[in-house]
Order: sequence, then C-alpha cells, then structure tokens
Amino acid sequence: MERVAAVVLAAGKGTRMRSERAKVLHPLLGRPLLSYPLDACRAAGVGRVVVVVGHQAEAVEQALAGPGMTFALQAEQRGTGHAVLCAAGALEGFEGTALILCGDVPLIRPRTLRALVDAHRQAGALLTVLTMEPHDPSGYGRVVRDPSGRPARIVEEADASPGELSVREVNTGTYAAELPWLFGVLGTVGSDNRQGEMYLTDALEAAAREGRAASVLLDDPDEVMGVNSRVHLARAAALLRQRINRGWMEAGVTLEDPATTWIEPGVELEPDVTIGPGCRLAGDTRVCRGTRIDTGCVITDSEIGPGCLLKPYCVLTEARLEAGAQVGPFAHLRPGAMMGPGARVGNFVEMKKTVLGRGSKANHLTYLGDTTVGEGANIGAGTITCNYDGKHKHPTRIGDGAFIGSNSSLVAPVTVGDRATVAAGSTITKDVPDGALGVGRGKQRNVEGWARRKR
Ligand code: UD1
Ligand code: CA
Repeated sequence: MERVAAVVLAAGKGTRMRSERAKVLHPLLGRPLLSYPLDACRAAGVGRVVVVVGHQAEAVEQALAGPGMTFALQAEQRGTGHAVLCAAGALEGFEGTALILCGDVPLIRPRTLRALVDAHRQAGALLTVLTMEPHDPSGYGRVVRDPSGRPARIVEEADASPGELSVREVNTGTYAAELPWLFGVLGTVGSDNRQGEMYLTDALEAAAREGRAASVLLDDPDEVMGVNSRVHLARAAALLRQRINRGWMEAGVTLEDPATTWIEPGVELEPDVTIGPGCRLAGDTRVCRGTRIDTGCVITDSEIGPGCLLKPYCVLTEARLEAGAQVGPFAHLRPGAMMGPGARVGNFVEMKKTVLGRGSKANHLTYLGDTTVGEGANIGAGTITCNYDGKHKHPTRIGDGAFIGSNSSLVAPVTVGDRATVAAGSTITKDVPDGALGVGRGKQRNVEGWARRKR
C-alpha cells in the first residue's frame, strides 16, 4: 500500500491478565500477542509501524524490535488520544494515511486493513472508523450517526445516554486517518469526560464537522476481539487454531482431529501430510509430503523429510529426519539429532547431537549423545553412550555396518570401526578396529552343583 503508516497502541497495563508480564507479551501459539497485529500490518503492506509502549516498555521493545518498526513511549496512560499523540514525533514529516489499531487484537486480517484504507481513500475521508455489530455491545463506544446516516461521533459507554446505549453498532478501535491532520486535532482534544481521558474517538467528530468522516462495517466481530484476560487469550488461541488448521486442510493436509491439533503460524506442511490427534507442531517446523505424525507428538523447530513415520508420543526439538525415517513410539530427539534416509529409532530412545546414518537402527531403550553412526549399523537394545565425564562432553563414532550388542556402554571418546561388533553387555573404553569384535565384560563362570550345596 502506498504511503501507509500504522500506529499500534500497546501502552495499557492489562490489569485483568493478573500477570507480572505485560499483556501484549503473553504468548499466543508460541508468539507474543502483539506480534500478530504487527504481522498483519506488514502483510497488508504498511511501510512504517510505530508501536506506542508504556507498561514494561523495555521488555516489549526487546521482544518485538524489527525492520520498519519504531517505538514511542507513553509514560503515563492518559487515554487513547494521548497514546496516538505520543507517536507524533516518530512520524514527523510523514504525510499520508495511518492505520491505528490496538496491540491486543491478534485476529485482525491483513485484507481487512487494506479494505479499510481503500474505503477511507475512496471516501476522501480524514478519519474512517472500522465498526461492528456484536451480539453484546457493552463496553464498546457506540457509533452515533447523523440524520443522513453518516457517522457523526463515537460515544463511550460511560458517557452515553440511554438512547445512545441502545445503538448496536460499535467502534472496533481500528481506524484509518490522515496525518498530520489527526495529530493537529488530537492536540486540541480535552479530557472532559467520565474517565478523564483524552479520547481518540473525539477525532471522528472533528472529521465529521468537515464532512469527511467515514465508516466501514466489519462482518466478523471475532477478528477484532481484544484480549483482556486469560479467558480471552484461550479463546483467541482457539479461533486462531481453527483458522490455521482450516488453511492446512484446504492445502491438502489431513488433520484427524483438528480440535486437538496445534500448529503454530511459522510451521510449513506439504500436501499429503497426515497429523493424528493431540499433536503440537511449533516454531520453524517443516514437514514434507507423505509423512505421518501419529497421536500426541510434540515437534519444535524440526525438519521432517518425505514419507517419514512418527509413531505416537514422540518429542522432537531441532531434529532433522530424511526421507522414510521412522521414529517412536515414545522417542525423544533433542537438538542436533539427525536421521538419514530410512533410519529407525524405536521406543524409549533418546538422541542428542547425533547422526544416525542411512538405514541404521536404534530400536529399543538407548541413549546416543554426541555420536556419529554410519550407514546400516545396528544399535542393540539398552546401548548407552557415556558422553559426559562430569565436566566435558566427548564424541563417539560408530562405523558403517557396525553391530553394537545389547546393553553395551560406549565410554567416549571412543570409535567402533566399520563392520565391527561389540559383544552384548560390554563396557567399551578402547577403540574397536574395523571388522573386529570388541568384548568388554567379565567372563562367565558356572559353579556346578551350587544349588544343591546351598540347601
Ligand atoms: C476504546 C475506544 C472504544 C472502542 C474500544 C474498542 C476510546 C476512547 N475508546 O475503548 O470506543 O469501542 O477501544 O476496544 O478510544 N491504550 C494506550 N494508552 C492509553 C489508553 C489505551 O496505549 O492511555 C491502548 C491500550 O493498551 C489498548 C488500546 O489502547 O491496546 C485500547 O484501550 P482500551 O482501554 O482497551 O480501550 P477503551 O478506551 O476502553
Ligand atoms: Ca480505557
């Protein structure tokens, strides 16, 4: 959009959250609440965004700083009109349209912002307000129209007459306005009202006096639902999940139970991915074509290739699976876990900073940390890499086609060569050469007739 700026109001305290944390920093599907309206502005094509901050200003700035973003401080919350005025310095010299919206409306769509700017410009308005007709208008400012039906002013609930209270159309708190006209008007607005605040809404009356006030009616009130409490936060998350999940289903992803599926906004899925009930896909996770993720998996910042199978209840964080890899049930892949094509990890296996090469298997009860496993190797049940000496981490290398017998401990740093075998129950403290058998266990001794003697 040509020459559009945005002012996002986020100085309020959010008392009803009952939290140490600023309201706009509460996470919604893994991202701070405030990041959603900011992303919507960017996606709508807004060039410059000024965020008005107050409560925990530093924390908010730190969490949301980004290109094209400036922060303006409203040290004392003296009302929405005052909040917008605080952005005047940051927008000095800017002439054009500004979107004004609240930082606590995570569901607002870019296309709604664009439509608001388009209608505003078509009307040649100085200020255009986005309105809605919710089931219950209480708490919102009512939109009062003149006899010819044009918006004349907005009256806050606290200041409204009984007649005005019966108006169903309300102010969503989202506007398009011309700058610097708006700053000029807000400079003259008083605070002679029931709340003793400087009302941004008074600017509508000023625009109407010049015959240049307009409005756009939004048909989905959910889009501008403000998050003021944890109950609202949960409801916003549910609505956002519905929107995201629906988008993925339309893009060819099967969600067996969308109601219990959590897919964060940064996740990417290819068609013909299937996701079972109760899964959470978070962060920058990417899942390729034909992969199935079964019940209860939690996957964060991971890359999963095509045709993989994640059996129920696996936890993956910063892991990478190549084509056809299989994991679980109940496996834990921690940062740096990498599985080559067709590799398999079974139940109660944990991997960290470990590469399991093409076709290699670790099927039961195993810990592999700081380990490189070649191709076609078999890691027996209960194998443990002892990678930590209490101070440092040490690497283990296991060659192509190696066979690690069950219940072995590999004390790092140590190398087991290509096609080498480790006897079951071994504690391996020295390298095993290629093709060799490493045995590191006490010899078995049988005591004949022992049971009889004891009796
Ligand atoms: C405001 C509107 C009301 C509208 C409603 C929609 C005014 C006077 N009233 O109500 O007509 O129906 O929004 O939600 O504008 N904020 C600041 N600094 C302040 C005051 C508020 O940054 O000094 C921020 C808040 O953090 C919030 C937003 O502005 O993000 C709206 O403030 P809030 O108090 O929720 O709105 P109301 O004034 O009740
Ligand atoms: Ca208020």
